Amino acid sequence: MKKYLVIGNPIEHSFSPNLHNYWFKKHKLKDCFYEKMKIEENDLENIIDQVKNDEIQGVNVTVPFKRDIIPFLDTLDEVAKATMSVNTICKINNKIWGYNTDVSGFKESLNNQNYKKKKIFILGAGGVTPSVVFCFLNSAEKIYISNRTKKKAEEIKRLFSKKNQIEIVNWGEKKETCDIVVNTTSVGLKNNEKLDLDFMNYKGKDDVLFYDIIYNPEETDFLKKAKLRGNNIMNGKMMFLMQAQNAFKIWTGISPKIDDESIKLLSL
Ligand code: ATR
Repeated sequence: MKKYLVIGNPIEHSFSPNLHNYWFKKHKLKDCFYEKMKIEENDLENIIDQVKNDEIQGVNVTVPFKRDIIPFLDTLDEVAKATMSVNTICKINNKIWGYNTDVSGFKESLNNQNYKKKKIFILGAGGVTPSVVFCFLNSAEKIYISNRTKKKAEEIKRLFSKKNQIEIVNWGEKKETCDIVVNTTSVGLKNNEKLDLDFMNYKGKDDVLFYDIIYNPEETDFLKKAKLRGNNIMNGKMMFLMQAQNAFKIWTGISPKIDDESIKLLSL
């Protein structure tokens, strides 16, 4: 049997096993199975040893280990290196590779649109934030990052060379109206959680997109309020599906179709 894993903490709510096991079945990869595993930081080395020994064929990494896993890997792809964030692991030619498919997943969810001259406002500075910032680096005119803990936003800015493109904004402070506002915080994961921020200056702006990385619940308070103001909204469902699709391709060489069934698996 070939074993695949998603590791994180917490991990109970991960939909990755449903999705990857559905794709394994669909592509008749009968000897493959995918599980979730809640781990602690001191388990990371052991997991990678199991990849080295061919006991595990592929690993997805989620919060909060996307950066912590890096010292245990041999090689990173360009995007993982630039973002210092790994979400997909496998062994190739005896080397343990770390990839980042969050960036391509996010980009593809926006139909690979070009954000030239656009202004982006990013809330949060957690595990997925560097991937979102990286997506806009080569196109956007300005990227604002605002996090409750300012120091963490500053650390993300330091990762990237085009620093004058990025501006750190105090939590709650208003800036010029942007073209996209992305929530990368975990606020909204629990149904009654609300971000304590005022976006009334975006009222009636039907050309602005409010994007929430969260997909469960489908509409966070952040998205509900944006909809009421007349803004466009998108949740993280397509990004999640597309990062998984790209991980599956790395492991198997097959790019699975995102069909209605796979989309439905995320709303169970
Ligand atoms: P990690 O920071 O461990 O990578 P994460 O879930 O990827 O975890 O990120 C959580 C993000 O949500 C952080 O940006 C966090 O802000 P802090 O850095 O200030 O902790 C943000 N967050 C969580 N709860 C929040 C709240 N009540 N208000 C505002 N931001 C919050």
